[in-house]
Amino acid sequence: MANDLKGKIFLVTGASSGLGRAIATLLGKAEANVIAIARGEEGLAVTQERVEQAGGRCLCIPFNLLKMDDYGKLFLALKDQVPHLDGIVHCAGFLTRCAPMQYVKPKKFQEMIDIHLTAPNLLTQMMFPLLKRSPAASVIFTSCDMATENQSNWHGYGLAKRALPYVAAMWQDEHPDKAMRFNTINPGRMRTPMFERAYPGLAPDTVPVAMEIAPAFIYMLSETANAYRGQHLQAAELLTQFQAETFK
Ligand SMILES: NC(=O)c1ccc[n+]([C@@H]2O[C@H](COP(=O)([O-])OP(=O)(O)OC[C@H]3O[C@@H](n4cnc5c(N)ncnc54)[C@H](OP(=O)(O)O)[C@@H]3O)[C@@H](O)[C@H]2O)c1
Repeated sequence: MANDLKGKIFLVTGASSGLGRAIATLLGKAEANVIAIARGEEGLAVTQERVEQAGGRCLCIPFNLLKMDDYGKLFLALKDQVPHLDGIVHCAGFLTRCAPMQYVKPKKFQEMIDIHLTAPNLLTQMMFPLLKRSPAASVIFTSCDMATENQSNWHGYGLAKRALPYVAAMWQDEHPDKAMRFNTINPGRMRTPMFERAYPGLAPDTVPVAMEIAPAFIYMLSETANAYRGQHLQAAELLTQFQAETFK
């Protein structure tokens, strides 16, 4: 586990479940401070318990990322509680039914764009003053296979995920002078509630659990991964790199 994360402050969205919870738990193990965001208070409470049992501290903020008008209030609440942010991991997401473009209702299409593209970008904008106060902040967007593969029926979800590597690269290019990193990671398929909804016909035990993938994100938050800037990365490759550096 990266030991340079001790005492650092990270905001994790989608922290009440799946990948977000796994990342928050590993940050707890690294003795970091986690700000956990999701809508579900019960799920957030479970995450808080795991982070604290692991050795970290966790502030839970129930927040609906689709309520774009409330981001200002979120920033004001946070700026009084934390001196800075050392990173954000954008994990929040949900899936409405996969469907051919021809049949997707505009509202469902828009929701997919909003939660997977507009929300992580807007949250980065709003938290930027806190990120700037960190000596070296790392922001991670979470993509998926459709970021590079033309798969059918993923409509707004696939489009939003495909745009994320460009979003990260743009943020990076626009801040060449700052010690900030903006990258995108494709976690690949994982055994989470989202996977079970997206692939009801596939046996969940054919894919790894989120806890096996989360170390790739932890690696990217640590200063060991300082050379990665504005890149789109595959979790599987990062895990190999992480293991190589941990055991060398
Ligand atoms: N699982 C896979 O196979 C897979 C593959 C590729 C990429 N991904 C990506 O990995 C990320 C994590 O997915 P996962 O599999 O861990 O999914 P998950 O277990 O379903 O978790 C999704 C999280 O997003 C939160 N969320 C959803 N809507 C929200 C909203 N409006 N406001 C705030 N939080 C919201 C949920 O919390 P609440 O419901 O409590 O709000 C939950 O914590 C997603 O970006 C997903 O696209 C997953």
